Amino acid sequence: MRVLRDSIKSQDKNEALHAVDFHIVWSRKLPAMFPQGSEASISNGSDASGDIWENFERFERLNLDYQKTALMVRSELDQGDYDAAMRNFFKMARSCKACHENFRN
Ligand code: HEC
Repeated sequence: MRVLRDSIKSQDKNEALHAVDFHIVWSRKLPAMFPQGSEASISNGSDASGDIWENFERFERLNLDYQKTALMVRSELDQGDYDAAMRNFFKMARSCKACHENFRN
């Protein structure tokens, strides 16, 4: 997150694109990392909340918010609009928090 923010700020396009691509790839993998049946979070030491599996639709929706803002940051970087990219970067950061508040113990 730091690398992305700093590289948007310094308008280092390559570095910023690299950093945001990480988030795009990550957001595509995230839902698959929490398959049904993996919710024994007490025994496996994970901080994933059991609510993920009771409310998977909401989990996926929050993940899509995350993915959408990451894609917006990417297209704005492509266009060289660093102000807009920075605004959406902060939106993306809020989307991390929104999901953690709901789904991380
Ligand atoms: C759709 C939900 C969701 C989104 C969006 C999300 N996270 Fe998470 N994150 C989780 C869950 C659930 C855990 C707990 C996983 C576990 O402990 O098994 C977690 C754990 C983490 C951890 C702790 C990892 C560890 O090894 O203990 C970090 C750091 C983290 N997230 C960073 C981020 C950042 C940064 C973003 C946004 C760029 C983000 N997350 C977006 C759901 C999400």
